[in-house]
Amino acid sequence: MSTKTQSGQYGGRKNLTAYVASLLAPSPLGTTNTETPTYTAQDFSTFDHLHSRGRAATQELCEFLSAHPGSNLLDVGCGIGGPARFIAERFVCNVHGIDITEEYCHTAELLNRLCGLDKRIKITPGNALSLPYPDKNFDIVWSQHTSMNIPDKHTFYSEIHRVLKPGGMFLFHDIFSNENIPNEEDRALLLPVPWATKPEHNHLVQGEIVRDILGGLGFHREIWNDLTAETHLWFHNYNANWTPKDPEQKSLPKELGPKLFIGDDFKLRAQNLKQNLADKKLTVIQAVFQRAQ
Ligand SMILES: C[S@@+](CC[C@H](N)C(=O)[O-])C[C@H]1O[C@@H](n2cnc3c(N)ncnc32)[C@H](O)[C@@H]1O
Repeated sequence: MSTKTQSGQYGGRKNLTAYVASLLAPSPLGTTNTETPTYTAQDFSTFDHLHSRGRAATQELCEFLSAHPGSNLLDVGCGIGGPARFIAERFVCNVHGIDITEEYCHTAELLNRLCGLDKRIKITPGNALSLPYPDKNFDIVWSQHTSMNIPDKHTFYSEIHRVLKPGGMFLFHDIFSNENIPNEEDRALLLPVPWATKPEHNHLVQGEIVRDILGGLGFHREIWNDLTAETHLWFHNYNANWTPKDPEQKSLPKELGPKLFIGDDFKLRAQNLKQNLADKKLTVIQAVFQRAQ
C-alpha cells in the first residue's frame, strides 16, 4: 500500500505545514532563534488531538500509562502529534510517532519544534502495516483512532505485538461497531464521518474481533472500558467552530481547528458521528493490553 494512496483521507490541504507555520511561527517553518520555546504543548491542545473528546481522552488514557524518562513509547497513527506531545511533556519519556500522512508528519515536527519537544519526539512517515522498527523495541505502544482506517487488522496488531518488548503495554482508544447489532447492513454508517467519506475508507469492526486477534497474538487484557456514553454526551455539547481553551493557554488563530486538519466538511462529519452514536451503531473503547513475557 503506497503512502500516498492511504493518506488521501487526511491532510487534504496543500502545503498544510507551511500554512500552520505562517499562523504560528515568527520565522519560516518554525525555526526560531530564541532558546525559549514560543509555545507549550498545552497551547496546541485545542486543535491537535484528532480524536473524539480531544485532549480529555488522551489525558484519561494516560491514567493507565506507566512511563519514565528512560521509556520508549511508539504512537501508531500519530496524526499531527497532539498525543505524542502530551505524553512527552508529562512523562519526559522518548516518544516515536509514525503516520502514513506525510503532511501530518511535517506539521507534527513543526509543532514539536515550536514547543521545544523535538529532542524528545521522533516522527517517522510510514505505514502501520509495516513498522520500520526492530522486534521488541518499545516499552509501550499507543494508538488513538487509527485502526478504523486499517482494513488488515491482523497485520496491524501483529506489527504492534512484534515491536513491543515482552511484558510491554499496548494502550488504545478506538471506535468499533456495536457488538450488539448482528446484521452487517444495520451497522452501515451515515457518512461522511471524520475518518471516512466513503464506505471503502471505513474499516470499523466489532470489538470482539480485535479482542480475539489480540488474545491470539498473546496479549493479556488489562482494561476494556466502554466510553460510548461519554463520547455521545461530548458530541451533544460540541461546537465544530469553537473549542474552549484553558485560561493559561495562548490564544491561537481561529483557523487552527478541525476543518483545517480533517476537511472543510468537518461540521457535517461530526454531526454524522453524533447521529451514528445516537443510533447506537458505534462503541468507543479505551483499552490496555499487555504482551506476554
Ligand atoms: C483520526 S487520525 C488520529 C490521529 C492521532 N492518533 C490523534 O489521535 O490525534 C487517524 C490517523 O491515522 C493515520 N493512519 C491511517 N492509516 C494509517 C496507516 N496505515 N499507517 C499509519 N498511519 C495511518 C492517518 O494518517 C491519521 O493521521
